[in-house]
Amino acid sequence: METKWTPSSWRSRPIEQVPDYPDPELLASVEGRLAAYPPLVFAGEARKLKRHLGEVAEGRAFLLQGGDCAESFAEHGADNIRDFFRVFLQMAVVLTFAGRSPVVKVGRIAGQFAKPRSAPTEKQGDVELPTYRGDIINGIEFEDSVRQPDPMRLEMAYRQSAATLNLLRAFAQGGFANLEHVHQWMLGFIQDSPQASRYQALADQISETLGFMHAIGLDAESTPSLRQTDFFTSHEALLLGYEQALTRVDSTSGDWYATSGHMLWIGDRTRQPDHAHMEFCRGVKNPIGLKCGPSLDADGLLRLIDILNPTNEAGRLTLITRFGSEEIDKYLPKLIRKVEREGRKVVWSCDPMHGNTVKAANGYKTRPFSSILGEVESFFAIHAAEGSHAGGVHIEMTGKNVTECLGGARPVEVEHLSDRYHTHCDPRLNADQALELAFLIAELLRKDRVSREARQRASA
Ligand code: TRP
Ligand code: MN
Repeated sequence: METKWTPSSWRSRPIEQVPDYPDPELLASVEGRLAAYPPLVFAGEARKLKRHLGEVAEGRAFLLQGGDCAESFAEHGADNIRDFFRVFLQMAVVLTFAGRSPVVKVGRIAGQFAKPRSAPTEKQGDVELPTYRGDIINGIEFEDSVRQPDPMRLEMAYRQSAATLNLLRAFAQGGFANLEHVHQWMLGFIQDSPQASRYQALADQISETLGFMHAIGLDAESTPSLRQTDFFTSHEALLLGYEQALTRVDSTSGDWYATSGHMLWIGDRTRQPDHAHMEFCRGVKNPIGLKCGPSLDADGLLRLIDILNPTNEAGRLTLITRFGSEEIDKYLPKLIRKVEREGRKVVWSCDPMHGNTVKAANGYKTRPFSSILGEVESFFAIHAAEGSHAGGVHIEMTGKNVTECLGGARPVEVEHLSDRYHTHCDPRLNADQALELAFLIAELLRKDRVSREARQRASA
């Protein structure tokens, strides 16, 4: 694209998924206020994440990205954030150990509020109202006044994101992420799991490793890296007025950064090459994710890569593929071959959630754990066959014991779905299911690592 980029250049492009605000003047004034507020994240942090993702692109690290489908104002509490982070850290430890390589930790959190929808309106009986588009835009209750897009919600989302990020920073740096504690939580999970015997060996190895380190004086007191971790935030860059208001020039580099989160991604429905979302994202220097679904062919993907990462910088672009467990074999290999043949440096990440959504017999939108795991397994197998790096996973999950996805070791059955179905949008893995998935991914990572080590020995 030859045209000059500015934080507002997206406004002259065609755009999908925009809410229809009854009061555009109020919207403009709220955006004006936001533009003067402090940034939520700093350019240096986004650059650090990009460096870490560069390691993933080169095959030396693994990306764990996860969190709510949609955050909500009603469920904004310390317990929710803590419970999510507790599970997420446990997943990270398991994956780090199994892969013997760093895990880059990125939450779908502190800004994940706006949702693309398949229809602009929803009908119940004779009443037709705007669809719910996420708490940053309108409310979920089916009521005219609540469903009207309200600009004041941008400010509420900003403040909630700030508070969430503040707590996460404290958790990541202030002792909560202590490896020894995280490991103790994990042992508790295993004790209660019907699959205990399957996970015990890995847990025992971690216990022994920590015990050995302790014995030689490497413990959380003496070694900061054992009690701290780098944690980054991400969300879909859907509501561009909000993103623009929080986009700032970094004084050290002179570059533009979105400061609403460290990493932003473009959804599968808003990635038209000449449209607004691509235009906005091409100009900010943050790490960018791109959701890739069945409608994206290899040439189309190359064109998007050219726009988003013209200098082929490793870590700039993460391709988040989401085909469904039945379809991934059909679509993913073609994309990998093209991208790898053209020498494009990308992180390949697997979103095993969005292509595996089904309607249960009782009407609930759900996802079978077996399909989620199936897509991840195929993802690893395909990358092994193509010689590319299975770089990460992107998961919708919560730290709570919800009943939204079917299956798992302590299975959620169709008749349980109504017990604790709390999501504002898509079904999420509950705490046990998320951790179980991490253990199963750990087995795949371990297999990959062992065969890589064998190849290295053979060629040495
Ligand atoms: N600092 C290291 C890391 O982030 C080790 C570590 C400390 C860690 N606490 C952790 C890893 C919690 C995973 C989870 O990788
Ligand atoms: Mn979702």
